[in-house]
Amino acid sequence: MWEEKSLEKLIINGGKPLEGRIRVSSAKNAVLPIIAATMLASTPSRLLELPQLEDVHTICNVIASLGVKVTADETNDEIQFDASHLTSIEAPYDLVRRMRASFLVMGPLLARLGEARISLPGGCAIGSRPIDLHLKAFEALGATIEMGDGYVYAKAPNGLIGNQIYLDFPSVGATENVVMAASMAKGKTVIENAAEEPEIVDLVTYLNSMGANIRGAGTNIIRIEGVDHLEGATHTVIPDRIEAGTYLIAAAMTGGDVYVENALSEHLKPVVAKLKETGVKVEEDVDGIRVISDGHLKAADIKTLPYPGFPTDMQAQFMALTTIAEGTSTIMETVFENRFMHVDELRKMGASIRIEERRAIVEGVKKLHGAEVRATDLRAGAALVCAGLAAEGITKVTQLSHIDRGYDNLVGKLKGLGADIVRVDE
Ligand code: EPZ
Repeated sequence: MWEEKSLEKLIINGGKPLEGRIRVSSAKNAVLPIIAATMLASTPSRLLELPQLEDVHTICNVIASLGVKVTADETNDEIQFDASHLTSIEAPYDLVRRMRASFLVMGPLLARLGEARISLPGGCAIGSRPIDLHLKAFEALGATIEMGDGYVYAKAPNGLIGNQIYLDFPSVGATENVVMAASMAKGKTVIENAAEEPEIVDLVTYLNSMGANIRGAGTNIIRIEGVDHLEGATHTVIPDRIEAGTYLIAAAMTGGDVYVENALSEHLKPVVAKLKETGVKVEEDVDGIRVISDGHLKAADIKTLPYPGFPTDMQAQFMALTTIAEGTSTIMETVFENRFMHVDELRKMGASIRIEERRAIVEGVKKLHGAEVRATDLRAGAALVCAGLAAEGITKVTQLSHIDRGYDNLVGKLKGLGADIVRVDE
């Protein structure tokens, strides 16, 4: 686990309706695999409008340690990646343990160099998060896998060979890792039971613009015709549907009126449907999504599922909303085995929540009250910020490194909507 360094905290004086417009940044969960994929090209790529996130810095450090020249322009929202000369097959332990997504360099390393040595990504607050599906798929492509002293060592000295692959679970990371590896394998690969997330579609759009030959992204069957080399390309990453959804929830909880610009409603169908069920008014147009709420929310049940189901990354934020909705809501978390770490923290703010294995039963209360709470993981932190914005009184949120991993300029954006929020360093 990444030990908390800073004593910074957010101080939120709740009860103010959020009003105005904000613009969503590019999607963290698309940017990370796409930055890993820049390693596949023997000429430079340029990625535009990148979000300022800790996780982006981390993955850039990982690929730089493997020999990719990473050059940011002065505004830092356009970065060039030159992977013409990779110099290492080993991803450094201290970076991989910091961020599980670092494991996404394994596919590109196997494809380019036929070898990769990566430390096992730590589990984290939301579950053990194994990588067995990634490794099984790499073996199906002809790689041999050795495990030892906390490292995974994979090699394919004669190159990867296309194959038929069935993923026991539509794992997002495994689908991305295999797509990247298979894009330069010999022959054809078919991935069945593939994850269908929009971030995978964006990764494949980028790979095909580099010269890859991949069809079916966004469905559960992806067909890949391997090619022997890829050229760098310029790409602008899709907007972050989870960041957008988080702000929609915050607007609903505070009885506000917020227009989230650059949010793609087709990526948020289950979240929009559930918001409407709670009685919130939602207007969708080509440029974004508007939420208008009078603060009176009705209970609603959710069950998280792989895309296109309700996203697990919105579960904590939606639970925060149900804590002040009228009636009883049931929250089923089916994707991760331990993604209820935010429950104890919400209880400190007066929420009434009962857990029965993977189900949380929430009895709505009139109001939450401010408290000192800690962000146990990225989306739990976001949920606590939403709760603090709606609560009566002062909420202090600590362990901000989690939030910095996935939210670009959270305080600035919320201040722009009228929130009374500051970030202080104790
Ligand atoms: C991606 O993680 C996202 N991260 C997660 O977002 C997101 O919650 C998750 O997909 C599900 O949508 C990035 O894209 C960087 P999985 P990933 O492989 O790829 C099990 C956030 O908040 N599994 O789809 O790690 C696993 O344990 C983060 O932005 C295996 O059993 O998710 C989990 O229970 C959190 N074996 C389930 O599948 C494997 O080999 C889903 O994991 C791989 C996964």
